[in-house]
Order: sequence, then C-alpha cells, then structure tokens
Amino acid sequence: MYRKGILIAIEGLDGSGKTTISRALVEWMRSRGFNAIYTAEPSTSPIGELIRSKIISGEIRRDTRIEALLFAADRLWHVLYEIEPLLGEGRIVVTDRYYFSSIAYQGALNVDIAWIRTLNKFAIKPDTAIYIDVTPEEALRRKKKEGLKLLFENIEYLRKVRRIYLELVNYGELRLVDGMRDFEEVLEEVKSIVNDLLSERGFS
Ligand code: TMP
Repeated sequence: MYRKGILIAIEGLDGSGKTTISRALVEWMRSRGFNAIYTAEPSTSPIGELIRSKIISGEIRRDTRIEALLFAADRLWHVLYEIEPLLGEGRIVVTDRYYFSSIAYQGALNVDIAWIRTLNKFAIKPDTAIYIDVTPEEALRRKKKEGLKLLFENIEYLRKVRRIYLELVNYGELRLVDGMRDFEEVLEEVKSIVNDLLSERGFS
C-alpha cells in the first residue's frame, strides 16, 4: 500500500509507561506542527471492546489460540478502518501496542509464534517500533501503585513476555529503550528516535 504518513509502534509491559510516553510523543509532535494522532490496541472496534470486557477482564478464558485470533481480528479492523486511512491522509500515527504484543503475550502463553506471525501478515510494517523495557517487578510495582488489577499479572508470565520482546529487539524488529529511568529521560530518547525518523522521511 502506498502511504504518505508514518507509523510508529510503542510496545512494553503494562506499567512500562508506554501509554504516557505515546501520548506525550503525540503532543510533542503536534506542538511542532505535525499532524500526529494517538491510537491503541486493543482498539475501540467492537472486537476490541469484546477483548477488553470479556478477555482482559478474565471473564472468559478459553484456548489461548482463540485470544490470538481475536487480537488479530481486532488488529485487522484497526489497520483497515483507522491506520490505513490515516496514513493515506499523511498523518503520523502512534499506535500504543501492535502485532509485537501478540507475538510477546500470546507467544508467552505457548501459542506458536510462527502461526501468530502468519495470522498478522496483513499488518503494515511500522516505520519504527520502540520497546520500552522495564523489569516485570517494576511493572507490577507501578501497576499496584495505580491500584489496577490485571489479568496478565503473573510474574513468571511477564518474564516470558519480556524475554520474547527482547528477542524481537535482537532480531532488529524493535528498538530498545530503557524504561527504568525517569520519565523525562525515557521520553527524550523516544523523541530523539522519532526526530531522526521524521528528518529521514523529510518531515522536518
Ligand atoms: P493495555 O494495558 O496496553 O491496554 O493492553 C491490554 C492487555 O492486552 C495487555 O495486558 C496486553 C494484552 N494484549 C495481548 O495479550 N495481545 C495483543 O495482541 C494486544 C494488543 C494486547
């Protein structure tokens, strides 16, 4: 697909700060006059709503392949009806989670990663994908402070998710950013990566 815009994916464990970073990144680009927009997965589609209300809440737990299929279906919706049209308009799209989340989270539940990749083949490759790395202990500590109850909060599970994310960093699919530092420092590094990308693509 021909695209005029830019797609940036931000990944990390819940509690890594990725949502705050993604939103701050969008605000920063807007303040510089760029037409940036924040979006997230699970999306606001009916499939995303089903995932949030029934799967993430833990109300329904069935074969993990069904979850992988639902996340992929939601992603297809997100790509077709949000991401592609926005890129076609030349917007800079920041997605808080993308197919790397399925590889890491469903992969850590022993769903075959090659199969997850096949399912998600339709997903447009992002121009850059950043992984904000925190230890599972730190992620849980931050989440507990917020008083949030998570389905996927088992520490052993989060260790596996992180291991897969770090493998994706080694394959060169994700750019590693150390999320254990102060928020401002993390944000500065993310901004610098994005700034280089915007220059390369003639956006600045
Ligand atoms: P969020 O906390 O970033 O809104 O993400 C919701 C949860 O959904 C989070 O625990 C990770 C999980 N998730 C998957 O397991 N697979 C996926 O493909 C996506 C997008 C999210």
